[in-house]
Amino acid sequence: MCAGCERPLSHRTDHTGEPPLMRPGRVHQYSAPLRRRRTPVDLFEYQARELFAKHGVPVLKGIVATTPEEAKAAAEEIGGLTVIKAQVKTGGRGKAGGVKLAKSPEEAYEHAKAILGMDIKGHTVHRVLVADGADIAEEYYFSLLLDRANRSYLAMCSVEGGMEIEQLAAERPEALAKIEVDPLVGLDQAKAEEIAKAAGFSAELQEKVVPVLVKLGEVYTKEDATLVEVNPLVLTPEGTILALDGKVSLDDNAEFRQPEHEALVDKSAENPLEAKAKQFDLNYVKLDGEVGIVGNGAGLVMSTLDVVAYAGENHGNVKPANFLDIGGGASAEVMAAGLEIILGDEQVKSVFVNVFGGITACDAVADGIVKALEILGDAATKPLVVRLDGNNVAEGRRILSEANHPLVVLAETMDSGADKAAELAHKA
Ligand SMILES: Nc1ncnc2c1ncn2[C@@H]1O[C@H](COP(=O)(O)OP(=O)(O)OP(=O)(O)O)[C@@H](O)[C@H]1O
Ligand SMILES: [Mg+2]
Repeated sequence: MCAGCERPLSHRTDHTGEPPLMRPGRVHQYSAPLRRRRTPVDLFEYQARELFAKHGVPVLKGIVATTPEEAKAAAEEIGGLTVIKAQVKTGGRGKAGGVKLAKSPEEAYEHAKAILGMDIKGHTVHRVLVADGADIAEEYYFSLLLDRANRSYLAMCSVEGGMEIEQLAAERPEALAKIEVDPLVGLDQAKAEEIAKAAGFSAELQEKVVPVLVKLGEVYTKEDATLVEVNPLVLTPEGTILALDGKVSLDDNAEFRQPEHEALVDKSAENPLEAKAKQFDLNYVKLDGEVGIVGNGAGLVMSTLDVVAYAGENHGNVKPANFLDIGGGASAEVMAAGLEIILGDEQVKSVFVNVFGGITACDAVADGIVKALEILGDAATKPLVVRLDGNNVAEGRRILSEANHPLVVLAETMDSGADKAAELAHKA
């Protein structure tokens, strides 16, 4: 595991290579949740296996179960030795007692009963994978990941895989081969041979491992992944190579050409407000504070979070409740959708609308706010501090003054607006 962020070991390079999203200091605490937008979609092991199977990576049969009864039935269907594996998006499951061998369906039942509901590093186990048990002669490690710092891919591989891989990487880094993979070429036969050789596979084993590495490379490229990790990749006594575990992260920037990936997203883990924002194509991230924020342009919204957090220090330490960028040419409908989402957050006590009129001038934004309040009607219940600047600012302010909505407070500057919004949130 990456000590920094609890992601797989192979993620480390990716982690440190990521450029800071914004300037350090006070505001950084708000940028941390925003990072999630850029974070890939992590898959459960059983989902990773499905992708492996789809691309011809050898895996054993596995059935997902959510109850001990289902696990028992799955073990009966698979027959023989099975392994009951906690499905959580964190590593070290084996060491935490989340991976158990079952010799009979009854044992599968007992293990599933113990593992379901277990907490592994803050992740509750809701499903187990009942996997066909493999005979293991040797355990290897392989991963391929996006190396942002070098604008490249990086493959890591070792003949000493298994649960102690983190220790190996720390104590004997030379035993873990690190080979750059050119994104324009991908993991082809020649590269796979280079990796297998560097990892320390014998000539005989290289022949068996190389085709599997090429297929794992296919999973990476064809599925638009940012990480494919197999630990352990095993050799059976019969000489077959199998992927016994799998971690895959998908790049959600590729959503548009990967329609099937939508189904892999864990909806139950998604914040309901964020899910709703997604429906409207809004860039929304739920935070922990009390002041709802609406702005146009990511930079302005981030600065707004900063200024509101700062103002909050004078008003009972209230904090921003969200990040919401309604974008440049936002219509009244988009403004209404944004406000509706923010007002739907029970934690929100006041809202700060901070808009700079550019392509969409301030009068259009003001019209949007007035219409949005009409659309929302009784659903609008919290004070709205509005600061407008930019094109047609005078006309925009006139429209809002004339509408004279009881919830709207006009602010002249960003600082005074933030202060007012923080004050109103604190009083509420
Ligand atoms: N299908 C299987 N058959 C036999 N043994 C297995 C099977 N799956 C896993 N194991 C054994 O259990 C160990 C741990 O399994 P796995 O790698 O899936 O979990 P983990 O490494 O603890 O989790 P993570 O990789 O998330 O840290 C493996 O190293 C392997 O020895
Ligand atoms: Mg593993």
